[in-house]
Amino acid sequence: MDPADFYTGIVAEIYGPLKSFSQDPEPYAAFIQQTGMPALELGCGDGDPLLELRRRGLDVDGVDSSADMLERFRRRADEQDIRATVFHQRMEALNLPRRYRAIFLAGPTFTLLPDDATALAALRGIRAHLAEGGTALVPLFTPAPTPTEQIGRVRTAATPDGAELRVSVVAEQRDETARTQTTLLRYERHHGSDSTIEERPWIMHWYTRDQFDKLATTVGLAVTAVTDSYGKPAPADGTGLLHFRLQAT
Ligand SMILES: C[S@@+](CC[C@H](N)C(=O)[O-])C[C@H]1O[C@@H](n2cnc3c(N)ncnc32)[C@H](O)[C@@H]1O
Repeated sequence: MDPADFYTGIVAEIYGPLKSFSQDPEPYAAFIQQTGMPALELGCGDGDPLLELRRRGLDVDGVDSSADMLERFRRRADEQDIRATVFHQRMEALNLPRRYRAIFLAGPTFTLLPDDATALAALRGIRAHLAEGGTALVPLFTPAPTPTEQIGRVRTAATPDGAELRVSVVAEQRDETARTQTTLLRYERHHGSDSTIEERPWIMHWYTRDQFDKLATTVGLAVTAVTDSYGKPAPADGTGLLHFRLQAT
């Protein structure tokens, strides 16, 4: 399976009910207010924080590679009476009709791009879709290995129609040279005598600050700031979620 298709089928179904945490919309609202509109969220998924940003009247479009996540997005938008334009595209093959003052990812979605070549293609697309003077915001982190005691631990949720959803980590491999961690996840849906069980590899790929700087420079972008999620100076040890701001050179 292509990593861009990971959040489809049973994974998209389980994503909402088993989501442990939603991105705080504040840093992204503040970013858009500072840098201007229109804005674009890459990897908007089923709508956090894009729906809240639209509810506040901000002009933000979305892009996601999963038609199943976008279907859930549209359903939630209808329920909340919110209008939003979303595009079914991969961020590494962006081709949109507008140019944006602000392009961002909410949380570390950029680490779902499985290698430097795909990241480079995504950064090239970001560069091409920035309006003159526009800014991009890419949150990055280095994932920690899953603690051994959590391997095999099952998290469950129930759907309104009475199905039981389950997700667990089966195994994990980490490659420090390729900077990737591949977590084999097992997704299950049980409803009466009906069961669906699927195992999928979830890949995360990370960067040192220098490596990300170099990729950005290659496509005509420059890192203009690195902060924590709330715009404060990044911690000196470089840990946690870092917000990289990029502008065209
Ligand atoms: C962890 S979810 C985050 C969704 C949402 N922003 C949230 O916080 O709930 C990551 C999203 O990125 C999308 N995605 C993954 N790879 C992508 C790619 N190459 N291009 C566009 N979207 C991608 C997935 O389909 C998924 O909806």
